Amino acid sequence: MRLMGRRRFVFALAGVALVALGIRSATRRPAPTLINSACQGAPRMTDRILVTYATRTGSTAEVADAIASRLCDAGLSAEARPVTEVTNLEGYSGAVLGSAVRFASWLPEMTDFVSANRDALSAMPVAFFTMHMLALGDGPAAVEESAKYTAEARDLITPTDEVFFEGMIDPARLSFLDRLAVRLVKSPVGDRRDRERIAAWTDRLAPRFAAVPT
Ligand SMILES: Cc1cc2nc3c(=O)[nH]c(=O)nc-3n(C[C@H](O)[C@H](O)[C@H](O)COP(=O)(O)O)c2cc1C
Repeated sequence: MRLMGRRRFVFALAGVALVALGIRSATRRPAPTLINSACQGAPRMTDRILVTYATRTGSTAEVADAIASRLCDAGLSAEARPVTEVTNLEGYSGAVLGSAVRFASWLPEMTDFVSANRDALSAMPVAFFTMHMLALGDGPAAVEESAKYTAEARDLITPTDEVFFEGMIDPARLSFLDRLAVRLVKSPVGDRRDRERIAAWTDRLAPRFAAVPT
């Protein structure tokens, strides 16, 4: 009896270990490449803009970097930083917040950042950009659906500007479960980022972030 009990215990333990191993391999994916970059604008401009992002597979980081670089072309100083590495907003005069969407909402670390820095963000110009693959286009249904992605953040602060861009899905950067989810919702895959649209939006945004030169 005691032997049976021990055997059952060993089987149960092996079962738990197998399930844990299965979950681990089903959710494993390569770590995204995070970008930290900074560029200087015109010498007499005092603005320092934070372009901070939340990503799972890295494509939003590249967009944030492109936005920061474009803001610098417009004369502002800008930095692209992963939101997980930004501890406060000291020294910044404006912020661009960008997140990938997962399961119909911004990544939680970005919403948490907005919540934790609500007062500072409310005192400066802030723009939202969202990278996504469903609810595309500007038809009423898509607009209504995509607005939900940032609803939680918009309940906390009112952005000066908000935009939605088509993103990227590279199956090689996804876990087995993520690939399954993408297939289940019949999401488009590939790199659908429109660099010209992103640049044009940034160009329109820049003057709204520029203070009077000293
Ligand atoms: C598991 C998974 C869930 C996703 N959920 C949504 C979603 O609900 N709505 C949407 O529009 N896009 C969704 N996407 C698309 C991503 O938001 C898009 O691919 C984004 O560009 C990824 O950015 P990243 O490379 O910075 O992580 C999903 C992608 C994956 C892999």
